[in-house]
Amino acid sequence: MEKYIANEKRYADTDFLQRCGESGILLPKVSLGLWQNFGDAADFEENRALLHYAFDQGITHFDLANNYGPPPGCAEERFGRIISSSLAPYRDELFVSTKAGYEMWAGPYGNWGSRKSLMASLDQSLRRMQLDYVDLFYTHRYDPLTPLDETLQALVDIVRSGKALYVGISRWPLEATLYGIEYLRQRDVRCLCYQGRLNMLDQEVVESGILEAVRREGLGFVSFSPLAQGLLTDKYLHGIPEVSRMQRDASLRKSLLTPELIAQLTSLNQQAQKEGKTLAQMALRWVLDHEGVTSVIVGARNKAQLADSLGCAKG
Ligand SMILES: NC(=O)c1ccc[n+]([C@@H]2O[C@H](COP(=O)([O-])OP(=O)(O)OC[C@H]3O[C@@H](n4cnc5c(N)ncnc54)[C@H](OP(=O)(O)O)[C@@H]3O)[C@@H](O)[C@H]2O)c1
Repeated sequence: MEKYIANEKRYADTDFLQRCGESGILLPKVSLGLWQNFGDAADFEENRALLHYAFDQGITHFDLANNYGPPPGCAEERFGRIISSSLAPYRDELFVSTKAGYEMWAGPYGNWGSRKSLMASLDQSLRRMQLDYVDLFYTHRYDPLTPLDETLQALVDIVRSGKALYVGISRWPLEATLYGIEYLRQRDVRCLCYQGRLNMLDQEVVESGILEAVRREGLGFVSFSPLAQGLLTDKYLHGIPEVSRMQRDASLRKSLLTPELIAQLTSLNQQAQKEGKTLAQMALRWVLDHEGVTSVIVGARNKAQLADSLGCAKG
């Protein structure tokens, strides 16, 4: 493998960075998530090329979770192989996040939000990614059965241990989120950001008041699935392509693609064309235009998709 040397101009576009809430951290407006395209069915060299391309474009933030793959753990393991080979010299330029909260291993401790589960999961993630620390560790979902204080104290202790520099909350309801932010604040731990789904087809975080509330609290907001898993691109306008997430009929169900939705997407696509944008670019810009949104975490199968998406934030 040829030695990777990052593009010297990767930070030339200073408008591409945005402050994450009231913190010291700047994040790229477009971040890359490794949920579905870094599993063992994906080509490893293409994964490596995609990460290099992303970093060359100024994408410093990579979003993972313990269970990303498939199989669970595969994305972190691949990311670790790439980091430890070609990206190691750039570790201090990278902002790596991971999460725990969904089922990861068998038995009562491989799921949800207990101290035992979060601590063990982060240790496993660090081993898979061959890292000493992550920049950001999230509680991946709200656990109605574990006392909130137990989950939150685990986050405090994780920061104190140096295994994560910041912590974040993903998919918690509003009231629990506000409680969590305050719990952490009283222990001098910054809750850096909230990760939630916001896209042109799903505005629940706006309607529930979460986006506004976390902005008021000084957190950043990073949006996952900003393209509604690919629906907000031109790929489903004429049916379900052979190579597509919907073809797997798992996280993106075929039954979603009703004639009404296709009509809605077609009309959005026409609007994008009038604006001289692709539908993906218009959809990402729409998310970024919300006050309080720091970054959109896109998933990309390949460089062409990521290049298209980057057009929402780069001239
Ligand atoms: N906190 C949470 O609970 C949570 C939940 C979900 C996701 N996330 C995070 O958010 C990240 C992004 O989620 P996502 O993958 O659902 O994001 P997304 O950007 O909404 O969807 C990504 C998919 O859209 C398609 N696509 C992307 N760009 C395209 C383009 N320019 N033209 C045509 N198709 C395009 C690709 O589908 P094909 O593969 O079909 O080509 C790609 O895999 C994840 O990787 C993860 O880091 C977090």
